[in-house]
Amino acid sequence: MSSNHNVSANALKYLELEDKFGAHNYHPIPVVLEKGEGVYLYDVDGKKYFDFLSGYSAVNQGHCHPEIVKTLQTQASKLTLTSRAFHNNLLGEYEAYITSYFGYDKVLPMNTGVEGGETAIKLARRWGYNVKGIPENNAKIIFAEGNFWGRTLAAISSSTDPSSFKGFGPFMPGFGLVPYNNLVALEKELKDNNVAAFMVEPIQGEAGVVLPDDGYLKGVRDLCTKYNVLFIADEIQTGLARTGKMLACDHENVRPDILILGKALSGGTLPISAVLADDIVMMQIKPGEHGSTYGGNPLACAVAMKSLEVLKSENMAENAHAMGQLLRTELEKLNSPLIKLVRGRGLLNAIVIDHKDPEISWELCLHLRDLGLLAKPTHGDKIRFAPPLIINESQIKEAVQIISEALKKIA
Ligand SMILES: Cc1ncc(COP(=O)(O)O)c(C=O)c1O
Repeated sequence: MSSNHNVSANALKYLELEDKFGAHNYHPIPVVLEKGEGVYLYDVDGKKYFDFLSGYSAVNQGHCHPEIVKTLQTQASKLTLTSRAFHNNLLGEYEAYITSYFGYDKVLPMNTGVEGGETAIKLARRWGYNVKGIPENNAKIIFAEGNFWGRTLAAISSSTDPSSFKGFGPFMPGFGLVPYNNLVALEKELKDNNVAAFMVEPIQGEAGVVLPDDGYLKGVRDLCTKYNVLFIADEIQTGLARTGKMLACDHENVRPDILILGKALSGGTLPISAVLADDIVMMQIKPGEHGSTYGGNPLACAVAMKSLEVLKSENMAENAHAMGQLLRTELEKLNSPLIKLVRGRGLLNAIVIDHKDPEISWELCLHLRDLGLLAKPTHGDKIRFAPPLIINESQIKEAVQIISEALKKIA
């Protein structure tokens, strides 16, 4: 593959192993990493890079955050998994911690983000039948076009991206779509009494950091309240200080009925997700009706509490806000003809590339890699810039210098 240019013989060994023995379900930038520290990653040849993806926003707290790693190690040597067949000494403490942190009655702990989404939808359907009075098997969940919430059959059933759904049908019934950032279209759908919930990302991450108009989230909240529909916020990528507030919904002071968190809930160390809701929703699920072997395991409980704690104690939301503004300003100052648009909030940002060759974003990411910065295109012409939230001013400026040099190589 031509994209393997500038890969050392040492690194090539690892690429060949993956190519031969692993499923080809990803198309990674050709770089082989073996160490991470703060905002940096190191490859198998010792070369250092800025990480401008942060594990798709799972590593908000920075790679191998010392306190999170220490908590992980201490708990791992004591007790890791009991299953929910028995109680463990950390689950209740974690549940009390996270519900008070975000202001909900209860939490349902899961592992991956997509399981969080599945859980939210099951809760919404159950609430729809038991509380709203939707006739059995008629509940509808509405999603926004361009959404991404994972790769399970339910998640791809709501997708508008053919690379997600094509060839994997048949799909989940009871799902509907509306254009993102369109309250008129949403209101039309919500008038249907069988609609149990609207699930939406406050900013569409995978779609290329698509920001809705100011007031959209407030409008969603009002419409959901008006039509007795649950507002499910998928904050798996936008949450946990990424956009400059603890939740992206906080920018408009709206409170979703169901909040889904994942990714940075472990600072990038374990798959941990959480679904938060009040009793009227959460108590619709009874013992034995939902769960997961690893959900709520004591290792995850300890790590999640520490991951949440350091977000606050190190003022990561405030830093994301300030550094995000600096990043966007510095990128705009480059005045590059290749950059059509710089957009984002906090440290969830993207540039939109202006070039007729769709391969150019990939080429640019290879130049960035060669110059010491890792980023990846999403949907062809967009490159996300989302470094860990502990990045400082001089690091932002150094990174923008690298981006400037890479752009010049294309021009
Ligand atoms: C908004 C959003 N929701 C859900 C998911 C799925 O998370 P996971 O990959 O942990 O299943 C993602 C993953 O990128 C995401 O960005």
